[in-house]
Amino acid sequence: MRKKMIAGNWKMNNTPAEGAKLVQDIKAAADAATCDVVVCTPFVCLPSALEAAKGSHVQVAAQNMHYEDKGAFTGEISSVMLKDMGVTHVVLGHSERREYFAESDQTVNLKTKKALMENIVPIVCVGESLEQRETGIAFDWIRMQVKLALLGIAKEDVKRVVIAYEPIWAIGTGKTATDEQANEVCGVIRSALKELYDAETADEMRILYGGSMNAKNAQGLLAQSDIDGGLIGGASLKAEDFSTIIGFAG
Ligand code: PGA
Repeated sequence: MRKKMIAGNWKMNNTPAEGAKLVQDIKAAADAATCDVVVCTPFVCLPSALEAAKGSHVQVAAQNMHYEDKGAFTGEISSVMLKDMGVTHVVLGHSERREYFAESDQTVNLKTKKALMENIVPIVCVGESLEQRETGIAFDWIRMQVKLALLGIAKEDVKRVVIAYEPIWAIGTGKTATDEQANEVCGVIRSALKELYDAETADEMRILYGGSMNAKNAQGLLAQSDIDGGLIGGASLKAEDFSTIIGFAG
């Protein structure tokens, strides 16, 4: 049985004080649940979120990191810095980073390897555009993204990687993939993992769905056979909605 994960991607929202309050407000739901509960906060919110999460089941993630330990990379944050603070997870390759900040399959791969080296759980995002879906190349595209992200990662390590399937057309648009559409692609990802590694490894790895998941549609999505949780943007900013989603994951 794969342990479900509910991860809130705050994106560029919340001040440190607002972030601490949000963590306080979701603690009860997180502590009552058996799934992993993660908040992916802006870098400046990490200290207050970590402080607020102390003694609870809430885990704290960054939304990006660099693949080098240190050096002349103005504006960047390294995995060593994150680990030192107590950050346990990191979102890598989010479509917004790929689109606006030139994140490539190659840097996603370097960062994924680095996160694993530092014992930080990488949540690696993949997903197709509307055009790719409409022209029928979504599955090939996603299989390629998964394979490139995991290039050179050994079977013993890859099990710690979490993959998030986020169709770009569903992110922040209010358009969710149907339960069946989302599950179908998560199944495609799992079969790519099986080809790359083996059935047992693919079976153990967690695959999340993301893209306009909310308190109304989460129950159906989370009940699908290949969906092991959610990466939630907008609805993760409201403690009540996020807590409801955590409740559905159990
Ligand atoms: P959304 O964002 O839930 O607001 O669509 C999801 C994400 O981008 O991770």
